[in-house]
Amino acid sequence: MIVQWYPGHMQKAKREILELNKYVDLYLILLDARAPLSSRNEQLESLIKDKPKIFILNKADLADEKKNTQFLNYFESINQRALCVDSLKGTNVKNIFKIAENLLKDKIEEARQKGRRKIVRFGVLGIPNVGKSTLINKITNSSKAKTGDKPGVTKSKQWIKINDYFEMLDTPGILVPKIEDDLVAIKLCAIGSIKDELYDKELVAKKTIGIIKKGYCELLNKKYSLDFLNMSEEEYLIEIGKKRGCVLKEGKIDTLKAANLFLEDLRKAKIGRITLDEIGDR
Ligand code: G4P
Repeated sequence: MIVQWYPGHMQKAKREILELNKYVDLYLILLDARAPLSSRNEQLESLIKDKPKIFILNKADLADEKKNTQFLNYFESINQRALCVDSLKGTNVKNIFKIAENLLKDKIEEARQKGRRKIVRFGVLGIPNVGKSTLINKITNSSKAKTGDKPGVTKSKQWIKINDYFEMLDTPGILVPKIEDDLVAIKLCAIGSIKDELYDKELVAKKTIGIIKKGYCELLNKKYSLDFLNMSEEEYLIEIGKKRGCVLKEGKIDTLKAANLFLEDLRKAKIGRITLDEIGDR
């Protein structure tokens, strides 16, 4: 097992989602565009299968542009709405509401015919560090108006009015990452969705080098001025350590420091825009 895990988390997440589901009309399910399949949890999604949802491929600015398009096509092919978003800059955020309106147009029209106005309530779901709070802040900052006491939330949670038609819960639901599969677990560690203390960083760095050398060998070699052709992943990490001055007192290379530097470079897209998943992984 790559990650030490506690099974209780899944049960807790299930309870929270079922509670949320009583009040939410539409979900924004955030995925990390750098690993859109690995950052999904279909088991938990199945709890909300009765509600419309939009998959947000967030951090699209860090992911491979070509693969962004491929994954949008993939979601379309499985009949799901998806959008590439950069929540920090707000790129494409407005389009979320256009899609939402379209998804709920029958309900909105039904209410209108009865002389009422349908308020669409959004809930945000996603695994840790995928950008849930950033997106909520981006959407709600322009309209700080809390909607006051309404059912459906505990005292610490609030519905925020976005406009006359949309409200959003200010607190996201957290999806438990699925980590039964080692390859998925490595990718989730690499993108920073699993707490550092739960896995071996050197192992994850080496395995990630192995994954990205297939499609992004040139980017990797350019970043570290190395030649991958003749090196194993272990040797590559040692070479990164040498280049970056990760040397212990006795002259040995500090591979843990090298692993940390490499993962930091990867997460901040300093190596380049890299997507770890392939459509075929599914
Ligand atoms: P969460 O609620 O899902 O746990 O995620 P949160 O919003 O806290 O975002 C996690 C990190 O991801 C933050 O960086 C945030 O700025 C960054 N982030 C969120 N959305 C985007 C995006 O669309 N593009 C980019 N480039 N970054 C995004 P951080 O505070 O620096 O944390 P960390 O990355 O050092 O953990």
